[in-house]
Amino acid sequence: MKKIIILLCVITFGCKTQKIAVQPTGLLANEAMVVSAREEASKIGVEIMKKGGNAFDAMVATELALAVAYPYAGNLGGGGFMVYRKANGEKGTLDYREKAPLAATKDMFLDPNGNVIPGKSTQSALAIGIPGTIAGVFAVHAKLGSLPIEEILKPVIELAERGVVVTQKQEERLNDYRQELTKINGSNSVLSKVYKEKDTIKYPALAATLRRISKNGRDEFYKGETAKTLVDYLQAKGAIITMEDLAQYEAKWRTPLSFKYKDLNIISMAPPSSGGICLAQIFKMIAPYDLAKMGHNSSQAIQVIVEAERRAYADRSYFLGDPDFVKIPLKALMDDNYLKQRMANFSFDKATLSSDIKEGNVNYNESMETTHYSIVDQFGNAIAATTTLNAGFGSKFYCDELGFLLNNEMDDFSAKAGVPNMFGLVGNEANSIAPQKRMLSSMTPTIVEKNGKLLMTVGSPGGSTIITSVLQTILNVYEYNLSMQEAVNAPRFHHQWLPDLITFEPNTFSTQTFDALKAKGYLINEKTTPVIGKVDAILVLPNNKLEGGADFRGDDTAVGF
Ligand code: GLY
Repeated sequence: MKKIIILLCVITFGCKTQKIAVQPTGLLANEAMVVSAREEASKIGVEIMKKGGNAFDAMVATELALAVAYPYAGNLGGGGFMVYRKANGEKGTLDYREKAPLAATKDMFLDPNGNVIPGKSTQSALAIGIPGTIAGVFAVHAKLGSLPIEEILKPVIELAERGVVVTQKQEERLNDYRQELTKINGSNSVLSKVYKEKDTIKYPALAATLRRISKNGRDEFYKGETAKTLVDYLQAKGAIITMEDLAQYEAKWRTPLSFKYKDLNIISMAPPSSGGICLAQIFKMIAPYDLAKMGHNSSQAIQVIVEAERRAYADRSYFLGDPDFVKIPLKALMDDNYLKQRMANFSFDKATLSSDIKEGNVNYNESMETTHYSIVDQFGNAIAATTTLNAGFGSKFYCDELGFLLNNEMDDFSAKAGVPNMFGLVGNEANSIAPQKRMLSSMTPTIVEKNGKLLMTVGSPGGSTIITSVLQTILNVYEYNLSMQEAVNAPRFHHQWLPDLITFEPNTFSTQTFDALKAKGYLINEKTTPVIGKVDAILVLPNNKLEGGADFRGDDTAVGF
């Protein structure tokens, strides 16, 4: 990828390295900004802030507008995580992750011989977890919002009624998934029909559902008419979710997971997302190395990062799960000495191989499920929120009467210890299925502070590649002096312990780099080269303007004022 980077060097005496003033290349705004997967959603979030709403009001609007404009991952039938930093420096995180139904069992995806039944945790109605999104946005609104919910939902409902114009990328995605969507929902279902770029898709049933939620509040989804319609639909399809499951669902405020990387303070999501802890482990393991000196995406820098990723993902697989069900040794896993020891056997001369597991039964081609958005408001509040249906279009079960898709998040549990899920991630007892348990996630909505002030809000979709995409974006800005947009554009790579492969984005790294790594024993995934992550971020510049980083890999758009 050809990049034009204009760097103005300003030498600051007394600092270890030169301080670089970087020319922004993304959208600039003076006061507020939303960066999300669709322009329509970013615009609605900004519109709410222009009306005097804060970032939390904009979060509710953006999240639900994505459910309309970006059904690939935006949702009412999924869940997510949100990290916030208020203008006064107060931080918090919300877990609105899906949960396993009361009737779920540890072995529900195994055959009588104890083998995982292919597709059962991804393509059957049993794959659906109890949705958390509506509980999430109402929890945010109740605690931190300022405008009436009806005012926030109005433009979202209008968008669903007016319809959304199909982009070229959306046409392609719908083409890719039409067969699966049609198989489950029939050919008359909204998303089964054939759409071309510039066509408009209207969502009247979703508009009606949102109107009822706007009028009756959160309980409409969990106890009201919507809940009854949803449970009838799910049970007819063979799901095990009941009215009791919906009634018991609660979003949870959790303590943020914070850690230092040099002079940055990084705030991310604690379990049941593995995002924050893995990010912390990787940052702490790479901190002793001078990555800037090694060079951006150089083979040496790749080695250091890959070796840290390998070790962090190995810990993820063994230790992490829902903290309400399993004891997670968070402090020990983030301990500096422990992490120093973990890297003690790393040598620049030779790769540390993960195991003998071969590539092949693992496919992580689809890397853009899930969606992230970043918001900064005119008051200085910041939000990083990541939300998902798991796979693209989730389980593909689309409730036509209510107008939304259901997740297949049950696949994020470990159906059987050591057997990879759709992202090739292996898990253990800590992430086994149990009623009411939340499945382990990789979502990594993250906020970065420098000198006690907001620096960046960042996150990404991409399943297991979310963590490494967020990591590289922060490093691109901090270590390599790229602008926010440049940092998002830069080619990415990924390693997750198992399979023992480094995956690079297609056509972005040189054969020289590959050769240097192969010579040291690194295994390179040359078969499947998916896009890695789709980062949406906002950087606060030294002059306090905001620079958006909207990922060109999708239709992502920054809007601000
Ligand atoms: N479903 C992807 C994740 O939560 O990591």
